Amino acid sequence: MALTKKVCRVWRLCTQDMGYRMKGTSSRQWIQRQHNDIYVKRARAENWRCRSAFKLLEIDDKYKILQPGQLVIDIGAAPGSWTQVACQRTNATGIDSSRPRGRVISIDLLPISKIPGADVLDCMDFTSQDCQEKIILLSEGKKPDVMLSDMAPNASGFKEFDGRLLVSLVSKVLQFSVTQLAVNGTVLVKLWQGSGCRELTTVMEELFTSVKLVKPKASRDDSREIYFLCQKFKGLETTE
Ligand SMILES: C[S@@+](CC[C@H](N)C(=O)[O-])C[C@H]1O[C@@H](n2cnc3c(N)ncnc32)[C@H](O)[C@@H]1O
Repeated sequence: MALTKKVCRVWRLCTQDMGYRMKGTSSRQWIQRQHNDIYVKRARAENWRCRSAFKLLEIDDKYKILQPGQLVIDIGAAPGSWTQVACQRTNATGIDSSRPRGRVISIDLLPISKIPGADVLDCMDFTSQDCQEKIILLSEGKKPDVMLSDMAPNASGFKEFDGRLLVSLVSKVLQFSVTQLAVNGTVLVKLWQGSGCRELTTVMEELFTSVKLVKPKASRDDSREIYFLCQKFKGLETTE
């Protein structure tokens, strides 16, 4: 099978060396912060599974990436607030009969309790061949319009090491999108600022017409997380 240069490039990013740096956060500080957090309160009041919902809502309000009728793959979806947002905005439950009905496929290593409108592949590792084959099977021949990745590896406390792991996970998302995403499709991925980001941005710019760096208000100021919004997938150029 012919592999494109782009696929090889993304693959190489998965095999980079890793470095280390210590980090620590007390659980009491975390509980206090959750208690005071306006987005945590709003998430409870508005029935979102977690505060992350507001990050996707804000990005979608501004860039209109989710439309009724689309097929959306939500990777690293537990507990499920992005899936809730995607189901609502793509009309995945079919609640609005005047608009096309979308589909959302949600994947996570962890269990996800049922979300109306979503097909859930929980307790699965997105990077495994088995999981990716199941996504393709569930897509029933349709190419995804949007791929979301809010994946985060379990924090080891070594900032640089964790950052590299996340780069590796996002590389797998890009690899999958190279062969699966619909032309003109969108990928939204989370990264942590630091090493590896720049190289990955170069790959994104080769694959997509537009790549934007987004830091939604709901993303905490002291968090290194940033989102890359890649729009207008150029499609696969095959080589002999
Ligand atoms: C920040 S949470 C996602 C929150 C989610 N967007 C929401 O709104 O509810 C990150 C998730 O990534 C998942 N994750 C990390 N590595 C993964 C992998 N290889 N495959 C699937 N999920 C993964 C974790 O289990 C975790 O649930």
